[in-house]
Amino acid sequence: MNKEFFLKVGVIDEEFINRRRELEDVSALVRMGQSCVFIAPRRYGKTSLMLKVAERVKEDFFIAYVDVNVCTSVRDLGEHILNAVYSAVGIKGFVQKAKDRIGELLRSMRELKVKVGELELEVGLELLQEKEDIAFLRKVIDLPQELARKSGKRLLVIYDEFSEVYTLNKKIPDIVRSSVQMHKDCVYMFAGSQESMMRRFFTSPKGPFYRFAKVFVLDFLDEEDVRKYIREKVRSAGMSPDKDAEEEVLKITRGHPYYLKKLLQVIFLTCDRFTSECVRESLERLLEEEKHYFETLLYHIKEKKYRGEVVRIIAMGENPYEVLKGTLSSQQVLQVLKDLELEGIVRRRKRGVYELTDPVLGIYLGR
Ligand SMILES: Nc1ncnc2c1ncn2[C@@H]1O[C@H](COP(=O)(O)OP(=O)(O)O)[C@@H](O)[C@H]1O
Ligand SMILES: [Mg+2]
Repeated sequence: MNKEFFLKVGVIDEEFINRRRELEDVSALVRMGQSCVFIAPRRYGKTSLMLKVAERVKEDFFIAYVDVNVCTSVRDLGEHILNAVYSAVGIKGFVQKAKDRIGELLRSMRELKVKVGELELEVGLELLQEKEDIAFLRKVIDLPQELARKSGKRLLVIYDEFSEVYTLNKKIPDIVRSSVQMHKDCVYMFAGSQESMMRRFFTSPKGPFYRFAKVFVLDFLDEEDVRKYIREKVRSAGMSPDKDAEEEVLKITRGHPYYLKKLLQVIFLTCDRFTSECVRESLERLLEEEKHYFETLLYHIKEKKYRGEVVRIIAMGENPYEVLKGTLSSQQVLQVLKDLELEGIVRRRKRGVYELTDPVLGIYLGR
């Protein structure tokens, strides 16, 4: 597996905060042949964790990475899987090459690290002849097992943002499950940001993947680890630790890996000293830099009625049932909350108490 691949999809060289136990556990499970699934809102570190695991086990596995999020149709998903599987054994851009010229493909075969016989290439070429999309998808989903069996090396197949398959076609989860359960020489890792949907697939007794994969629900990073991390970073930036500033960073990021790293980056780039005041100033810069992301997210949220209002109310720390009394029935409020939960935008802390999964979006909206 090449470095380019890692750089494209996530962290690799940067340090990996916390999640050590998950990393150990998942790597061991994968080696034992146990498939795993990661459920957490966006930017909680699912992709990073999976890539770390892949890095750890790459001696024992070919790694195929499929980002469902970028797939636009059933056909496109199938082609992405095909590319990912061939890329795992050293052939990049299989589909394009096959479409362009087969000769070139055969030539590139000679440069392969891993010897893939002509037979295996023919398999892929034949698959591309399949015109019916679902039939094509069914076939490519089985390709990892075929390659694993023939090469004698197992494949670790990663389906990132897996719940998106449902928007492409509602039948896909069942199709994937019925195939992958037969793959003795493959291990699967799935990740998804839409918690309710992922739970429906993986933890509900009626779900297609019930008991197929070991479930990991990623939360914010552990507070103690975050404190330690902040202190280390502050020290190596040549600054003195400061209890109040540290508290401030924790209060803002709450151990959200993306914001924690981002905020510290801004602090070290723009401040001479680590103080509460400089943390607050850096927060302003962070909000400015994330503005586009937030606005795009909010635009999407507001595509459905009342979702914008409800998100704003939660951001203010208020109770949407109370605030919207007189405007919406409690049944309607519940419906909006469930919908937002399904998309991983809010989550229920306890009965009747909701929070945004993105702590900094909360601050942004609170302004
Ligand atoms: N454990 C971690 N240690 C350090 N940085 C992390 C960690 N997890 C995530 N990150 C950072 O947060 C960002 C979002 O992580 P990512 O893995 O893309 O999240 P997700 O896949 O859940 O959306 C990454 O760019 C990465 O820099
Ligand atoms: Mg991701």
